[in-house]
Amino acid sequence: MTERWTVLKVLRWTTDYLNEKGIDSPRLDAELLIGDALNKDRVGLYLCYDQPLQAEELAQIRQLVARRAKREPLQYILGHTEFWSLPFAVKPGVLIPRGDTEILVEEALRLLQGHADGARILDVGTGSGAIAVALAHSCPTLQVEAVDLQPEALDQAQANAVRNGVEQRVHFRQQDMAVLTGGPYQLVVSNPPYIREDEMAGLMPEVREHEPAVALHAGHDGLDCYRLLCRQALALLQPAGWLVVEVGAGQAETVAQLMQQHGLQNTFCRNDYNDIARVVGGQAPVTTGVAGEE
Ligand SMILES: C[S@@+](CC[C@H](N)C(=O)[O-])C[C@H]1O[C@@H](n2cnc3c(N)ncnc32)[C@H](O)[C@@H]1O
Repeated sequence: MTERWTVLKVLRWTTDYLNEKGIDSPRLDAELLIGDALNKDRVGLYLCYDQPLQAEELAQIRQLVARRAKREPLQYILGHTEFWSLPFAVKPGVLIPRGDTEILVEEALRLLQGHADGARILDVGTGSGAIAVALAHSCPTLQVEAVDLQPEALDQAQANAVRNGVEQRVHFRQQDMAVLTGGPYQLVVSNPPYIREDEMAGLMPEVREHEPAVALHAGHDGLDCYRLLCRQALALLQPAGWLVVEVGAGQAETVAQLMQQHGLQNTFCRNDYNDIARVVGGQAPVTTGVAGEE
C-alpha cells in the first residue's frame, strides 16, 4: 500500500528535515514553502491539515524543500518578501532587503520632516529599491533618484516601484557610486556594501553562497563605499542637506569621523534593536563650501 501524505504529515516531515539541515526557523519555513506549493497562506494551510496531497503537489513541495535544504534563502525561493510593510519581489542576484534597514528609512523620514514637500533625494546602491520605494511611499510628494551598479537590481527595483505605485516619483539609473552626479539633494541615503574581506568566509551559507558579493563586500576594512560617499557628499547635498547611511557592527564611529573629515556637521548615530549602532548621519553646512579632500 502506498503511503498517504496529508498536509500535516508533510509539514512535520519537512520541519524535521530542515532542522537537520541547520535552518534557523524550520517550522515557519516549512509552512511557507508548503503554503507556496499549495497556494495557501499559513491560516489556509492550518485549515487543511488532514487533506491528502496529490502526487504533483508532493513533487512541487519536494522541489522547494530541496532548494531550502541547500540553504537557498527562503525569499529567493518564494520570489518575494516584505519591507516597510510593503511587498517586494526579490530574485537571485539582488540583495534581499533586511529588517534592520527599516531603521535607516525611519531616520531618513525624521531628517526629511518639514522638508519633504517636493524634495529631491538620492538612494545610492538601491538593490531591490527597498529604501527608495519605502521613502516615496511614505512621502507623497518626494522625488527620488536611485542608482545601482547592477542592471538586474535596477530592473527589480523598477518592478517594485510599479508594484507599490510610486514609479512616477522614483527614477532609477545605472551609476557607479564612485562617480555620483545630480542634485543638489535634500538627502542622500545609502545602505552600501560594508562587509570586510576577512568576514566574507564566516557569513551564513544563505548569504555567502546565494546573495551577490557586489552587494556585500567593500574592501579589506569594509569602509570603501563610505569613503566614496563622504568624499562626494558636499558636492551632492543642498546646504543643510543630510547624508545618512547604514553601517556594519563596529563601523559607526569611523564613519562619523569620515563624515566630519569631509565637512559634514552634526553627525549622529542611531542604534538598532540589538543596541548596535546601525545608522550614521551628517549634515552639510548651511552654506556649502568646497568638498573636503582626503
Ligand atoms: C547592501 S546592498 C543594499 C541594497 C538595498 N539598498 C537594500 O538596502 O536592501 C548594496 C547595493 O549597492 C550596489 N553597489 C555595489 N557597489 C556599487 C557601486 N560601486 N556603485 C553603485 N552601486 C553599487 C549593489 O549592487 C547592491 O545593490
